[in-house]
This record gives sequence, structure tokens and C-alpha cells, in this order.
Amino acid sequence: MSFCIAIDGPAGAGKSTIARKLAARLCLVYVDTGAMYRAMAYHLLRKGTDFTDQAQISADCQDADISIAYDNGEQIVLLNGENVNPYLRSEAVSEKASVSSTNGDVRKRLVLLQQKLAEHTDLIMDGRDIGTCVLPGAQLKIYLTASASTRAKRRYLELTQKGVNCDLNEIEREINERDYRDMHREISPLRKADDAVEVDTSDMTIDQVVSQIMEMALKKRKAG
Ligand code: DC
Repeated sequence: MSFCIAIDGPAGAGKSTIARKLAARLCLVYVDTGAMYRAMAYHLLRKGTDFTDQAQISADCQDADISIAYDNGEQIVLLNGENVNPYLRSEAVSEKASVSSTNGDVRKRLVLLQQKLAEHTDLIMDGRDIGTCVLPGAQLKIYLTASASTRAKRRYLELTQKGVNCDLNEIEREINERDYRDMHREISPLRKADDAVEVDTSDMTIDQVVSQIMEMALKKRKAG
């Protein structure tokens, strides 16, 4: 059986930064499942799908063949063979991904793909339902959190450093809205798995978080 680490938590808790660093240090493949949900939302946006119509989302997601490849360790999401990475980080895609990821047919397709990836590969996978649904047998499960105000400040800094004009209160409002949607959806809502270790990153540096999880991962790998 492969060695898998599941990292779940709300948007902006630092999951992808932490998971990428851990994967490099532990020689594991990093799988960013949020990017797959984003690619599906991008597919639906391009098709002109009505995001308020679940039946249409179910029908329109059927011709999206999503797969992943790696270039220098960096994950590339392929949508029907096309590299769609450059389109996945826009605000429109972020917002729509949070809507279309509530659809059962979208989730069925992507969860199956994620489980197949983990069958024969040692990996670290991050998302919202990895410990609870995708990889319930993962050897280590982490639930990464940070307060909404900390996550908003981090996002504000990231955007202003890029020269983007933004409003801190507006960012915090959007974060709270996405958290609510991710935690209250009917299928696989974001929640801590019973056997997950919660790590609150509000007052920690990235290196401190990485070291803490590294220690847990090495113990688990030794034990296994
Ligand atoms: O982690 P992210 O912001 O890139 O995720 C984009 C959206 O996809 C987010 O609204 C939650 C959803 N998602 C999900 O429902 N399940 C996952 N395993 C990963 C992401």
C-alpha cells in the first residue's frame, strides 16, 4: 500500500504552500485537488453553464476529462488534454469552483481520479474531503486552520504585493462566505476527520508548520 498524507482545511490556511514543501522534503508527489475543482469550474464557465442549475452542471461536467501531469515537480492540470493552469487562479474561477464543487456528479468524477492516483503512488494530497472521504485510510491526516482574519490578512498582503488594489474587509467577507459554503454543503462538507491532527497556523511561520508535520510524518513512516 502507498504512503499517503491528507491535508484538509479552509481556503487560505496555507495548505498548498505547506504541502508543496513537505512533498519536496519527504520525496512524495503533491496532488492539489482544489486545482481539479477549479479546472472543472473553468470548463463549465467556458461552456456557459448556468451555475444555479444543478442538473445542467451534472450534464455539462460529463465531457470534461481532467487529468494531471508533472513538469519539474509542478502539477499541471489537463482539461481534455489542454494545460489550463494559467486560468485557474482568477476570482471568477475561485467563486464558481466553490459552487460547482457542491455538485455530486462533479465530486464523483474527481474523487475517483484522486483515489486512482493514490493507489500506487506515495503522495501528499490537499483539499477539503481528503481525510474524510477520498483517502480515509491515509497514514497521516492533518487539519490545517487559521483564523479568518489571519487568512484575510495573508491574502491581502499577497495581492497588494502583486500591485492589486483590494479591500481587507471585503476579502474577509469573501473568505467567510466560502468557508460557510464549503462547510455546509450536503456532500462531503469540509470537516476535520476524527483521526486528523489539527494544526492552527495563525501564529506560526511556514517553517514551523512544516517542521511540526515533518516530525509526525517521519514517525508514521517509521511505524509503517
Ligand atoms: O483549495 P482551493 O481554493 O483551490 O479549492 C477550490 C474550491 O474547490 C473550493 O471552493 C473548495 C473546493 N474543493 C473541494 O470541494 N474539495 C476538495 N477536495 C478541494 C477543493
